[in-house]
Amino acid sequence: MNYLKRGVRKVYNTARSSFSPGVKKDVELSFWKDMIEDYTDWYNGKIQTLYGEKTPDEKDKVKVRSVKDSAILTWFKTHQKTKYLEDLMLPKDAFKNMKLLDIGSGPIPSALAFEDCEVYNLDPLLAGYMKIGYPTHYYDRARFISSPSENIPVEDSFFDAVISVNAIDHVDDFYKTAAEIKRVLKPEGKLRLHVHYHKKNCSRTDRDKRRDYGGGIQVVS
Ligand SMILES: C[S@@+](CC[C@H](N)C(=O)[O-])C[C@H]1O[C@@H](n2cnc3c(N)ncnc32)[C@H](O)[C@@H]1O
Repeated sequence: MNYLKRGVRKVYNTARSSFSPGVKKDVELSFWKDMIEDYTDWYNGKIQTLYGEKTPDEKDKVKVRSVKDSAILTWFKTHQKTKYLEDLMLPKDAFKNMKLLDIGSGPIPSALAFEDCEVYNLDPLLAGYMKIGYPTHYYDRARFISSPSENIPVEDSFFDAVISVNAIDHVDDFYKTAAEIKRVLKPEGKLRLHVHYHKKNCSRTDRDKRRDYGGGIQVVS
């Protein structure tokens, strides 16, 4: 499938999921499946930029057995980690010696951008992400929790910090999620949320400039 067709499908799927919550899961998986093709095309130089990130130089490419995994790992290294730090406006050591939970981590454990901490990546679609081809075994420090944020399978006050990037508005029940965050976070714990919004009439070209494709709101406690 070419890049244009994938773009059209993304727009169609986004519209479909806003009207019909029941198809949310399929739409999310379909989006991330298409992203694997984008990452691979970007890695191979078939497309010059992806979300403003130039196709990687040979020296910056991660190389493992399959091209697909190499592309995903290169995207994680060159784009996702920086994106998380920028979106949350935090330094790498913000959660030093802490237990950190990322709500709605998606298929790539981007919270590993934070160093010297225990990183737990929670997402209800993790099994689906693995099925469509996202690897999880390459990330040394990552711990995965396959669960929705409305029901987090850990004891009270387990985490020192909770973050979420472009995901808190994706959950099924925000109030249950908020109650769960309160329960699993230590009383003096840190909470940092990033919520995406898109400017009216924002085009793909605008989005590709990344810093201009909308932006975010940081919520801090
Ligand atoms: C747009 S993605 C963001 C992924 C990642 N945080 C990033 O910025 O690259 C939103 C994620 O929220 C997850 N999500 C949807 N409903 C959820 C829920 N009830 N609990 C936790 N995560 C959920 C989706 O599965 C998806 O992976």
